[in-house]
Amino acid sequence: MTTTTPPPRTGSAPGAWPLLGHAWQLHSRPLEFLASLPAHGDLVRIGMGPSPAYVVCDPEAAHRMLTDSRTFDKGGPFFDKARVLFGSSLPMAGWREHRWQRRQMQPAFQPDRIERYAVVMGEEVDRMTARWRPGLRLDITEALTTLTLRIVTRSVLAAEAEDAAVAEVQRSLHTVIDGIYQRVMLPLGPLYRVPTRANRRYRQACDRLHRAIDGIIAARRAAPPGDDLVAMLLAAHDDDTGEPMSEVDVRDQLMVMIGAGFETTANSLAFALWLISQHPEVEAQLHAEVDETLAGRTATPDDLDGLAYTRRVISEVLRMYPAGWFFTRVTTADTTLAGQALPAGTALLYSAYLLQHRPDLFPDPERFDPDRWLKPSGDSLPRGAHVPFGGGNRKCIGDQFALVEMTLALATVCTRWSVHPDPGATLRVRVRGTLGPGPLAMTCQPRGKAAG
Ligand code: HEM
Repeated sequence: MTTTTPPPRTGSAPGAWPLLGHAWQLHSRPLEFLASLPAHGDLVRIGMGPSPAYVVCDPEAAHRMLTDSRTFDKGGPFFDKARVLFGSSLPMAGWREHRWQRRQMQPAFQPDRIERYAVVMGEEVDRMTARWRPGLRLDITEALTTLTLRIVTRSVLAAEAEDAAVAEVQRSLHTVIDGIYQRVMLPLGPLYRVPTRANRRYRQACDRLHRAIDGIIAARRAAPPGDDLVAMLLAAHDDDTGEPMSEVDVRDQLMVMIGAGFETTANSLAFALWLISQHPEVEAQLHAEVDETLAGRTATPDDLDGLAYTRRVISEVLRMYPAGWFFTRVTTADTTLAGQALPAGTALLYSAYLLQHRPDLFPDPERFDPDRWLKPSGDSLPRGAHVPFGGGNRKCIGDQFALVEMTLALATVCTRWSVHPDPGATLRVRVRGTLGPGPLAMTCQPRGKAAG
C-alpha cells in the first residue's frame, strides 16, 4: 500500500459576521479562535472587517513566508494602523528600508554586546531580589516588568541606573504602549481626539516620553561618539540616499526597541514562575540545577552551559505562551503559498501561538513539559513549527538579548527565592499587544543562603 501526502489545503474559517468578518472572534477569544483554525486548512481565510486575510497554519508555509521577506513584506490589517504610531522604525520598515536599518543596528546585538548588557541584567536582578523579604506577597508580573524595563532602557540607551531621563522613559512607556494597543485594535479614529481623561493621559505620556528620549539624544550628540545603539543610530546613513536618520526616526527606533524589549521578557518570566510553581517536579529539577551551578550567586553568561534545564524551561514557556502571539504580512507580488495562488496585496497573518499548539507537532500541547526540548528540536520538528522570535531576516533582533536575560534572571531568582501563588489561584492569560499573565499575586520564600 502506498501512502501519499495530502495536498495543501486552503479553507475558510466558519462563523464570519456581516461587515465584521472574524474581527470579533479575534478580539474576544483570540487564542481559542486561532487554535481552532488548523482544522480548516493549511491556509485559512478569515474576514478582517470588509477585507479577507489568510492565516498561515502550516509550519512549512510559515517558514517560506518568513524567509521570503521581499515577497511577504511587513503590512496588512493592523499593521498599517501601527505604522502611523511607530513611524518607519525597524519592525515597521518595508523591505528596502529594513535592510539598511537592520545592518546599522545589528552590531548592538552581537555576543560581545550581550556580555556587556549581562552586567546590567545581573545588577538589576540583584536590586530586585535584595528588596524581597520572607513572606512578601507581590504582583510578580509588575515586579518583573520593572526589572526588564530597567534592563532594556539602561542597555539600549547605554545609561546609568539613576539617569532622570531614563526614569521618565520608564514612567511614561506603559501608558503609551497600552494606548497604542487600543488604537491599533479598536481604531475609533476621531474619538481618540476627544479630551477624555484617558486620551489626555495618553497624549501627555507620549509628550513626556518624546521629550525624555529627545533629551537623551541631544546629550549624546554633544558627547564624544560611543559604540552603543544610540551612537550607531546617530551615525547611520541610508545606503542609497546617503541621508542620516532624522531626529524623529532615531527617537522612534529607540522607543520601539525599548517597547519591544520589556513586556515580552517580563511576561515570559512571569509565566515561567507561575508554571514552575504549578509543577513541583520541574521546580525540584530547576532548583537542583541552579543550586549546583550558582549556589545563591548572580548568574553570568559563563553559567549558561551549566543552566541547560533552565534554558529548556524557557523554551517551553515560549512555546506555550509566546509573548509575540500574532503578526501580519502582505504580498508584494503575485505568488503561491501552500498551493494557493495569492495576488499582490493579499494580507496574511501568522501566529506562533497557533503553530506551537498544533497537537500533531507538540503532543498534548497544553502540558508544560520542558523535556520536550531534550531532543535537538531541528531533528523532529518541521521548520516554522517553533517560532517565538519569528524567522528570516525579520526575526527578533533581540532574541539573544531576551534568551540570556530570561535565563540569567530566572536562574538567579530561583537559587535565592521560591515564589508561589495563593492556594487555589488560577492563571488568566491576558491577550493584548503581547500575551501575558496579567497581575499575578505571589509570595516569596527564601531558599538556601537567603533563608539563613
Ligand atoms: C521573550 C521576548 C521576546 C519575544 C517573544 C519577541 C518576539 C518577536 C517576534 C516574534 C518578532 C518578529 C515579528 C514579525 O515577524 O513580524 C520580533 C521582532 C522584533 N523584536 Fe522581539 N521579542 C522579544 C524580545 C525582544 C527584545 C528584548 C528586544 C530588544 C531589546 C526586541 C526587539 C525586537 C525588534 C526591534 C523587532 C523587529 C525586528 C525586525 O523587523 O528586524 N525583542 N520580536
